[in-house]
Amino acid sequence: MTRILEARNITKRFPGVLANDRVGFTLKEGEILAFLGENGAGKSTLMNILYGLYTQDEGEIEIRGQPVEIQDPNDAIALGIGMVHQHFQLVPVFTVAENIVMGTEPTRFSFSWRLLGWLGGVAALLFFLGGLFAFENLSQWLLAALAGGIATAALYGLLILLGFLSRRLTFRLYFLLVAAASVALLLIRGFVLDPSPQIPLLVFGGLLFAAASYPAMRVLATALDRYVAGRRIRTLSKQYGLAVDPDALIADLPVGVQQRVEILKTLYREAQILILDEPTAVLTPQETDELFEIMRGLVAQGKSIIFITHKLKEVMTIADRIIVLRDGRVTGETSPEETSEAELAEMMVGREVDLVVDKGKASPGEVVLEVANLTAEDQRHQPALRGVDLFVRAGEVLGVAGVQGNGQTELVEVLTGLQPATGGTVRILGHDVTNASPRTVTELGVAHIPEDRQEDGLVLSFPVADNLMLCNYYEPPFARGPEIRFDRLYEYAERVVAEFDVRTPSIAIPTQNLSGGNQQKVIVAREFSRPIKLLIAAQPTRGLDVGSIEYIHRRLIQKRDEGVAVLLVSVELDEIMALSDRIAVMYEGQIVGTVDADKITREELGLLMAGARPKEEASQEADVQETKGGIPVG
Ligand SMILES: Nc1ncnc2c1ncn2[C@@H]1O[C@H](COP(=O)(O)OP(=O)(O)OP(=O)(O)O)[C@@H](O)[C@H]1O
Ligand SMILES: [Mg+2]
Repeated sequence: MTRILEARNITKRFPGVLANDRVGFTLKEGEILAFLGENGAGKSTLMNILYGLYTQDEGEIEIRGQPVEIQDPNDAIALGIGMVHQHFQLVPVFTVAENIVMGTEPTRFSFSWRLLGWLGGVAALLFFLGGLFAFENLSQWLLAALAGGIATAALYGLLILLGFLSRRLTFRLYFLLVAAASVALLLIRGFVLDPSPQIPLLVFGGLLFAAASYPAMRVLATALDRYVAGRRIRTLSKQYGLAVDPDALIADLPVGVQQRVEILKTLYREAQILILDEPTAVLTPQETDELFEIMRGLVAQGKSIIFITHKLKEVMTIADRIIVLRDGRVTGETSPEETSEAELAEMMVGREVDLVVDKGKASPGEVVLEVANLTAEDQRHQPALRGVDLFVRAGEVLGVAGVQGNGQTELVEVLTGLQPATGGTVRILGHDVTNASPRTVTELGVAHIPEDRQEDGLVLSFPVADNLMLCNYYEPPFARGPEIRFDRLYEYAERVVAEFDVRTPSIAIPTQNLSGGNQQKVIVAREFSRPIKLLIAAQPTRGLDVGSIEYIHRRLIQKRDEGVAVLLVSVELDEIMALSDRIAVMYEGQIVGTVDADKITREELGLLMAGARPKEEASQEADVQETKGGIPVG
């Protein structure tokens, strides 16, 4: 296999951080190269350098043996590098096709209203003057000019469709084309068919038509552009097995499909090297399998892929080679045949990692959260929750399992006051908090780890310290009357950051400068560090490295043992199985069954998640009964 990319001695410093320290690696044509590393190890930074978003302080990059300078993403794209970012970069209100084409359409709109107005003005004057002499020929020249104009427009469209003309049609070119066609037609008519003294006027009519028809041409050109882009997107999606509808709105698509759009975007720009930064973090297991199929298809057709993930299983399944980064340095290179998950974990973290959570039996107390017949709508006003009943007791973990998109997001949002319920009740510690504000809910002692950390969990532009205080900055000891006591706040933030091992050079830097996983740790640190009664955790370990997952799982069980009621929503079956005392399965907006975690197998759970009814109707009935009205039996 030939080398397609080689990086040598890449070093990148941020204030207070050495993000990449003399990193070197090679990527071969048609291979999948996986990068593993702790949160903050420098993976995204390295990829951003390859994609031209950052420039390295030291080091060289070669593509196909040629040294290259990558100053910005345009350079990277020209060199055949495409990147799908850890956090997607799509415009939700645009269609798939618009998002894919964005940035490749002509950026300068060459059409000038001033020029058009000027030409139109002169034309109208001359037309008026000419008309004084040749009024009876008005209909003749109008017809001829019209014919000329339409013929040119058609010719133009044909040329684009056949791919001869770029889409960057300028007004001048268009004007010339229409004018030339009109003149030619008129000359033929005037000299050959029916000699007439009105030729100058006729020519002039053609020019006028040319100017006036330009706006219509722009509309036609845009429509054509869209058609051509749509066709190309369809071809690409067929070629690589990336099923998407080019006309769908991004906002309406599930994440898995949005990601295909991101991949298509790179293919549309003819990428040979694809960088996928944690593509599976937001995917369901099924979507991940589909993505792997797509990746296999891509490499089979000669593309090379750099793949970043925290999931060791995935690396073992899909990678040809594996590179491990720690503290910005390459600490190892291996392949799935030569290594094991445990060894990879150790290489990443530098110590042995306990991949299994050990927890004792729960000793549940009073009911803390009680949900009865809850209904709510999704963003498109379709029913998302269709009568959810559940309860969580102090000192137990209720895991909500389910395929993503079965109402879990809406459930968490309604419980935390981020979205209204359309019916039913939510009671926390006996208080009715149906449709209460997030602050009311928070003040009852509810912690929330949201699914979308950047959207609902953090103010990215705020310093780390402020984000650690979002829920209680206004309360003592951090506030005294209207005054915020920054010394206390900073002291507290320092302590929490150290305790939760948030890797940041300082608590004063904007949170957006933290690596994705460390942003998540900021949220976890904030929510775990205040007195709470109920913890609502949605995908709490998404994007975290194995070491941090181990840590957070341990903390979660510790909270349970301190008597906190925990509602855990996760699409990771392993996580649900490992942490839950009881498991509620959500399907199409309802809880289709609640079972004791030690009485169900992975397979049975998988079936329930797919909407199957359990075989033993009786026990199912009993379980459903148990949750009705939120009152526990026994
Ligand atoms: N724009 C920036 N300004 C300052 N520091 C930064 C910036 N971007 C990244 N860093 C720092 O560089 C280090 C490496 O971050 P990077 O995002 O590359 O980690 P990562 O390996 O991708 O981690 P994760 O798995 O959490 O995504 C981190 O310590 C981070 O805080
Ligand atoms: Mg990253």
